[in-house]
Amino acid sequence: MNIPSVLRKRFEAALNGLVEEPAPYLEMIRSSQEPKFGDYQANMAMSLGKKLGKPPREVAQMIVDRLDVAEICTPPEIAGPGFINLTLKKEWLIETLTAAKSDRRTGVGTTESPRTILIDFSGPNVAKPMHVGHIRSTVIGNALAKMLRFYGHRVITDNHLGDWGTQFGMIIYGYRNFLSRESYLQNPLEELARLYRLVRQLMDYHKKVTALPEYQDKANFLKRKLDELERQPDQEGLDRDTEKSLKKERQRLESQIFAMLEEIQTVAEKIKSVVNDPVMVKLSQEHARIGEAVLEETSKLHHGDAENRRLWSEILVFCRQDIERIYNRLGITFDHSLGESFYNDMLPGLVTRLLEQGIARETEGAVGIFLPGREVPMLIRKKDGAFLYATTDLATIEYRVKTFQPDTVLYVVDFRQSLHFEQFFAAAGQMGYHVELIHVKFGTILGEDGTPFKTRSGDTVDLESLLDEAEKRACDIVTANDTEKTLSREQIEETAGRIGIGAMIYADLSQNRESDYVFSYDKMLAMNGNTATYLQYAYARVRSLFTKGAIDAAALRDDPSVEILLTKPVERELALQLLKFEETLELALRDYRPNLLAAYLYELANVYSSFFERCPVLKAESAVVRNSRLVLSDLTARILRQGLELLGIQTVEKM
Ligand code: ARG
Repeated sequence: MNIPSVLRKRFEAALNGLVEEPAPYLEMIRSSQEPKFGDYQANMAMSLGKKLGKPPREVAQMIVDRLDVAEICTPPEIAGPGFINLTLKKEWLIETLTAAKSDRRTGVGTTESPRTILIDFSGPNVAKPMHVGHIRSTVIGNALAKMLRFYGHRVITDNHLGDWGTQFGMIIYGYRNFLSRESYLQNPLEELARLYRLVRQLMDYHKKVTALPEYQDKANFLKRKLDELERQPDQEGLDRDTEKSLKKERQRLESQIFAMLEEIQTVAEKIKSVVNDPVMVKLSQEHARIGEAVLEETSKLHHGDAENRRLWSEILVFCRQDIERIYNRLGITFDHSLGESFYNDMLPGLVTRLLEQGIARETEGAVGIFLPGREVPMLIRKKDGAFLYATTDLATIEYRVKTFQPDTVLYVVDFRQSLHFEQFFAAAGQMGYHVELIHVKFGTILGEDGTPFKTRSGDTVDLESLLDEAEKRACDIVTANDTEKTLSREQIEETAGRIGIGAMIYADLSQNRESDYVFSYDKMLAMNGNTATYLQYAYARVRSLFTKGAIDAAALRDDPSVEILLTKPVERELALQLLKFEETLELALRDYRPNLLAAYLYELANVYSSFFERCPVLKAESAVVRNSRLVLSDLTARILRQGLELLGIQTVEKM
């Protein structure tokens, strides 16, 4: 049941004849923020008043006179400047909940306008271990896929793997120069990861050695500027504004210098890590040209060099196994995993075609697409003939339109790629693709110090070790909670897995996706507060009620003689919250925001908790009341489970 949508239909009928285009006004029906304003509010009388040139209260009265909601609401009230307050009738709530009680989908319908939606998410650059940065796209994309599917859309998920980039040049170079056959045979993944790290360390070292003097020059330059500013004679007689702007300038320089010095220190430490290690010193001398050599290996791969292609496919098999293991732990699958390599052969033809059609032009030896309002073109072929990230995305959209005929494509990608997507969407428009393209962007995960989450040595944090740690901590919690030692070792591990992984997923999804958030195990695993652990606990608590009372929930659901009574105010509050699942889903999907679903579930758990405090269930005053409360409890549990499931989080029966 989507209550606002039911109300919208009634209001549409009332507005017909009053206004030509009722649609935008119907959007102004929303859930009330305070109980004294009823359950829902219709706020269109104010803007409609302006349009009709009538006082809003008068317009509100006109609407109410034409509105037929008699069996749904008590008589609508007009309040303040012209708000129409709607309070649902108890009988209607009961009737609607009774239908939901035995419904497989707890009364949640499907969208009236199903679309075909392709979701491009996760897309890690394989051949290097997945790191913390990958979790956001992966869990947000997965939740959106599940939510959209549940709401009746046709969803296609595609993991646009970065399986063709420089990182393969790095591994191939490592394979050729540093491979330990023995380790590779024993544990190929570990050996490949070692090669990747080694090559990266050497490349970094050479880059940093060149960069260090530049950084120092820059820092000195900034220091001189600051000195000059401070030595400026006679700053006394200056007016307030000049003084202020001088002060600002000084602060700006100071913080730039500080940042530069910090950077110099990290760079110096990285360099030291090589210099202090005789083996690394030797390697760095022997591989002084490593940066260029890696690019050559990549280029050979892209141009069809047989040996590099062979190595690439050999390595790719292991890389895919590696990420598959992580997806398994997160419980995520994809319909397709068409990586960048899949499109490689389409790129030359695409560029030629775009040139012929005049959509792309040569520019300083390269090829680019010039977009309105932008001076710099979006490059699709470099001077040296290499193709770019954007070229692949253009080939990909062409393929997707042809193969899947989507109405919408969602790209769940870090906000830092905003410019890329703006340009690429504009270019796709010039190519004549009018499919809806949306960049579902998200912010950064921060460490407790408020800067992007890194390890102590400044490296990216490996995703797998994060999952391990979350599970380990969850295991401690589960073990400590199991005071009566009723859980077996396997049960504890299984439960800890669901709780640990669930905590990480929920910590991400409960945030507005565009904000940054701080990664904290303690917060995400807290039993109280807006966490998966709290919701999983709420679910398990309801389930234990059924175990304790030896009640068959399914039988209760299907028993037509079981009545729902809403005797206490908190029962009514719970009933209303239970019926808001569908509208939440609709709202969350409008702008692709799983956090709205998370917030709804959290609120549901809170309302249930007050209900549970005030309304005895197993010890209710009569069998009728008891059954009614059991039905409300069962619906709560099912919605919690379904809602968490849509977020990609599993529940546990006991914890
Ligand atoms: N591999 C890319 C990265 O790690 C993300 C891919 C996103 N999808 C896309 N179609 N561009 O940055």
